Amino acid sequence: MSITEFRPSGGGPAPAGGTDLAVRVRGLVKTFGEHRAVDGIDLDVRSGEIFGVLGPNGAGKTTTLRMLATLLKIDEGRAEIFGVDVAGNPHVIRQLVGVTGQYASVDENLTARENLWLFSRLQGVAGPRARSISTELLGQFGLEDAADKPISQFSGGMRRRLDLAASLITRPPLIFLDEPTTGLDPRTRGQMWDTIRGLVADGCTVLLTTQYLDEADQLADRVAVIDHGRKVAEGTPDELKTAVGDSTLQLLLADPGEVPTAVEVVRRVLGSEPVLSPEKGRLNVPLDQADLAADVLIALRSAGVSITSVSVDKPSLDEVFLALTGHETDGDDEKRTKENR
Ligand SMILES: Nc1ncnc2c1ncn2[C@@H]1O[C@H](COP(=O)(O)OP(=O)(O)OP(=O)(O)O)[C@@H](O)[C@H]1O
Ligand SMILES: [Mg+2]
Repeated sequence: MSITEFRPSGGGPAPAGGTDLAVRVRGLVKTFGEHRAVDGIDLDVRSGEIFGVLGPNGAGKTTTLRMLATLLKIDEGRAEIFGVDVAGNPHVIRQLVGVTGQYASVDENLTARENLWLFSRLQGVAGPRARSISTELLGQFGLEDAADKPISQFSGGMRRRLDLAASLITRPPLIFLDEPTTGLDPRTRGQMWDTIRGLVADGCTVLLTTQYLDEADQLADRVAVIDHGRKVAEGTPDELKTAVGDSTLQLLLADPGEVPTAVEVVRRVLGSEPVLSPEKGRLNVPLDQADLAADVLIALRSAGVSITSVSVDKPSLDEVFLALTGHETDGDDEKRTKENR
């Protein structure tokens, strides 16, 4: 999949108003009834970067993107895209932003080619050009073989690629990606990551949402962590991870009654607190260096604590959250069931 021949207009945005910020948001608020889904968010996304908005279900990620894309009214606060006020200039903003939805917005009964052609026409592209853009995009996203199949026969990964392709028709300098890889298998996920990196190499700015720390880690230059509509942290992925150590040692004790002993041992060996999981007998130990795991395991054996399973892993979003907010990722339950296609 190559996107090198596909250049966004001008190889990058020409900032209006002399700003090098692609997105500038201050005090953004969206209220649904009594519920402040977005509760005073500030964001600065620099031109040419991949900026990640990381948060659990119901944090307000999609709502934020939808306001910035003019798909939802901004209740309070101000948002600018390349210096252009979003609320006052929806038509200009729609030229500047390509939106890829969390739920692919393609027509099931049409083929991939027909969908791209239709989207092009709807966006005012002339007939012959609409046909050539569609062919170009199908090639760029590796969808040539499936070009004339109806979308109903597409896999989740193919749908995501088509959805992303559709958002690039007008070659916008800023792309919003809402959970671009949720529900994709690891290989397809990796391909999507490469595609996103390619967009940025070509001069685009990308604002993406994700629930996965590893995705933010792989892709984003900077990340804002949001929770209950508020920004709780911002920084590079490395800065966020430092809040919880480089890696974690995940332990399951044979006897949950030995947890207090294990906690003592960890304190003694590392001088830090393990994170107790709600699951009985399970604890996660933040580690500055992965090889400290051995020290903890040896000390646990000397203390007579027996262990059923052990692994060393990167910190999860849950752990970052716990470290940043003091509570677990407790997104809205009704939104937990995600469309996995
Ligand atoms: N149109 C709506 N009407 C009422 N409430 C809404 C609406 N859209 C979103 N919400 C609520 O606003 C909150 C934020 O939702 P949002 O979709 O922005 O979360 P999210 O971070 O994108 O979550 P997910 O990871 O599940 O996609 C949730 O509590 C959700 O139920
Ligand atoms: Mg969402």
